[in-house]
Amino acid sequence: MNIQENISLKKYNTFGIDVLAKKFVSINFLHELKEVVSTEKDIFILSGGSNMLLTQDINKLVVHINNKGICIDNQDDNFVYITVNAGENWHDFVLWCVNQNYGGIENLSLIPGNVGTCPIQNIGAYGIEVKDVITKVEALEIATSKLRTFSEEECKFGYRNSVFKNELKGKYIITSVSFKLTKKNHKLNTSYGAIESELIERGITKPNIKDISNAVISIRNAKLPNPKEIGNSGSFFKNPVITKEHFLKLVEKFKNIPSYIISETEIKVPAGWLIETAGFKGKRFNDAGVHTKQALVLVNYGNASGKEIFNLAKKIQEEILNMFEIKLEIEVNII
Ligand code: EPU
Repeated sequence: MNIQENISLKKYNTFGIDVLAKKFVSINFLHELKEVVSTEKDIFILSGGSNMLLTQDINKLVVHINNKGICIDNQDDNFVYITVNAGENWHDFVLWCVNQNYGGIENLSLIPGNVGTCPIQNIGAYGIEVKDVITKVEALEIATSKLRTFSEEECKFGYRNSVFKNELKGKYIITSVSFKLTKKNHKLNTSYGAIESELIERGITKPNIKDISNAVISIRNAKLPNPKEIGNSGSFFKNPVITKEHFLKLVEKFKNIPSYIISETEIKVPAGWLIETAGFKGKRFNDAGVHTKQALVLVNYGNASGKEIFNLAKKIQEEILNMFEIKLEIEVNII
């Protein structure tokens, strides 16, 4: 293991924010992680760096989780059970599954980040959440250096949420994630409007999982900025859930407000629409901006600091509160 000093984290976070790590170590094997954790407790865990906004230098030991490996634990005619080490890139894993004709995560194509972080915020897109296919998560407890296996239930998954974002935040390091995927009779989810129309456009009437993955990739490429080209962290805010009364009041003023019914009393409204309606879509303040094609995504055009992006987020939150009386919640971790 090579512990380095004063390392720039620019290439380790998808926002491309240039802050320094006082100390930095990249972990390739579980035994290395155990060794680090047993000697140093004041650590900062960095995985794919795709769901964080770094607003300051990190005066701790930054531990970069980079353990790779995909293992088929078991399979029968219908299902395959796979364990994937935390440092594997998420999209590479999705493509590997699609190529083997393993179904269940094709709708989650092209989501940035690593496998180890997918359970933390229960990544989701186009009608699927990763919790639907996770069977267990293995994680190392920092305090004891002991491994613990979390069942799907123990992960307490919710919308962009899990136990790892709440009561266990900062206490465990996810080392691997296990999935149950289909080998045949795939449950295809094309109900999300954009997928269906994309398939129709491609003349596909009987899609397979590769067709769906390709459709998702092309929808995402058209709407979401590629972090390799423009720094970003996907959706910066969560879609807010408001009461039905509140919604009915808003509809009087904003006739075309989109909505999804959550329950008899609750309605979800897309934050992207609120931000666009408030006039922020495509706005740029120095190198911090709101993406031109999806207002829910904040972007770094090159040299924005984390503080500049955070200030823009606060400005948006204020405006949305004034205009719609809705408190937008930030989805990305602010460091
Ligand atoms: N909309 C606008 N203006 C915008 C963006 C969106 O009016 O600038 C409207 C759209 O017209 C549509 C609605 O908002 O009526 C929903 O937009 P979209 O389908 O793009 O989805 P979203 O709710 O904005 C969520 C996830 C995305 C995921 C997509 C597709 C959250 C916070 N975001 O976005 O996840 O890819 O659905 O399933 O739930 C991420 O979490 O990083 C992410 C990209």
